[in-house]
Amino acid sequence: MSRFDSLRSQLEACGQSHVSCHIDQLGTDAAEALMRRIESLPLAELPSLIQQFVLTPPACTGGDLQPAQCVSVDSRRVCESVSLVDESSLRLRGESMLVEGKVAAFTVAGGQGTRLGWAGPKGTFPASAVTGKPLFRLFAEQIMAAQQKWGRTIRWYILTSEINDAQTRAFFLDNRCFGLDRRQIMMFPQGVMPAFDMKTGQILFESQGELAMSPNGHGGSFAALLSSGAIDQMEGRGVEAISYFQVDNPLAPVLDPVFLGLHADESLSSGEFTSKMVSKTDPGEKVGVFGSMNGRLGVVEYSDLSTEQAQSVDDSGRLRFAAGNVAMHIMSTDFARRVATAGQDDLPWHRAVKKVSCIDPQTGDRHVPDEPNAVKVERFVFDAMGIATQPAILEVSRSAEFAPIKNATGPDSAESSKQMQSDLYGSWLEQAGVSVPRRDDGGVDGAIEISPLTAMSASDLEHVELPSELTRSGNFTC
Ligand code: UD1
Repeated sequence: MSRFDSLRSQLEACGQSHVSCHIDQLGTDAAEALMRRIESLPLAELPSLIQQFVLTPPACTGGDLQPAQCVSVDSRRVCESVSLVDESSLRLRGESMLVEGKVAAFTVAGGQGTRLGWAGPKGTFPASAVTGKPLFRLFAEQIMAAQQKWGRTIRWYILTSEINDAQTRAFFLDNRCFGLDRRQIMMFPQGVMPAFDMKTGQILFESQGELAMSPNGHGGSFAALLSSGAIDQMEGRGVEAISYFQVDNPLAPVLDPVFLGLHADESLSSGEFTSKMVSKTDPGEKVGVFGSMNGRLGVVEYSDLSTEQAQSVDDSGRLRFAAGNVAMHIMSTDFARRVATAGQDDLPWHRAVKKVSCIDPQTGDRHVPDEPNAVKVERFVFDAMGIATQPAILEVSRSAEFAPIKNATGPDSAESSKQMQSDLYGSWLEQAGVSVPRRDDGGVDGAIEISPLTAMSASDLEHVELPSELTRSGNFTC
């Protein structure tokens, strides 16, 4: 049987024969590209995936949810679901991992950034409050500062996708890798999945020879870490822990000794998958929440949490489902390998209903939908928590670590993030004795930026020459 005949019969067997019916009308290169694309699809899996996740409306996932048990190093945060752990012992443990070169940084940056309305890769977005440094530069500066502090080269792995891989690489080269050694950075694209017609389950075409594809979710990290050779490389260099964070949060601490120490502490964690959370203060905040279902820990997305669950409070008036996911995790290299090889199928697909502009492959007629017409499927990295034996969750300070940039305006926008960055750095300056102007609402009046190369925390400012006060509505950077 020819390659084409074999593909055609496989497509027929999975109910997608329309995908091959016009291949003979394409030029040689386009036909070859389409055949390669078809060969990359998990064809045997498609019928059950489509039945379960595309054609069937999702069941409410938040059903029998119980609050997740978390830990904190701050006694003020202790409550029914948060217990106190000793900061200094965790910090020491984490610091020794850094000194021994056992930790790598991992940024997920394969997403499309549609909500932000930024045409390039999200990591190229100007994010800092005064000089507009792009997100990638801010993380590179943290890595450089950490290298100076721990005396080790820190390897940086970056998940891209086929929509932004070339642009991301070019951006790093144009910026001379922000002062890092090119050899310590490894980028690799994640997998993609097709968009399906939400009524028929048929794969949609973006153009005559191209299927409508999109990244397969950050749960695709595991497969990509393995297939790219990143896990082999990490293991070869003695890396045991992968510090995972999203590209959209300029305040994400790339390497946090206390978090690493918790991950490595056998009495608190199985050392497989460890997460951070911040307390939700507003029931409507758009973050996923950690919770336990049938004894398995996971994250329930805000869209899956019922209003009743989102608003429910405990005896002390605190939100019951308060543990907001800030998308920072540590996973061991062993665990990442195990999930990528054996546990991948235990990560469920999640469906997102979207408007996808598409064409009829036979007529070439384009359909630009006014209403959602398609389902995209993604896997989520945090579903791996359910595979880990004893995942731990650390509560951290929102003002110090979480100022994501997701939307063009309003909450979680560049504007709100820059204010939060200025507020954080303003508080550091105040701790160093500088008088910082504030508005009536308590926010810093002005824009403040402190490079990670100058200070990674308030105490690092002790040896920095600073003014005694800042001007109202002015800019300050150091
Ligand atoms: C995400 C979390 C949410 C959490 C919030 C915190 C999910 C599904 N939800 O929401 O629980 O409270 O962050 O900020 O993740 N990405 C890839 N490849 C993909 C898809 C996404 O690399 O295929 C990356 C994006 O580049 C981005 C990050 O993952 O850095 C977040 O993805 P997004 O879909 O925007 O999730 P959020 O709605 O922000």
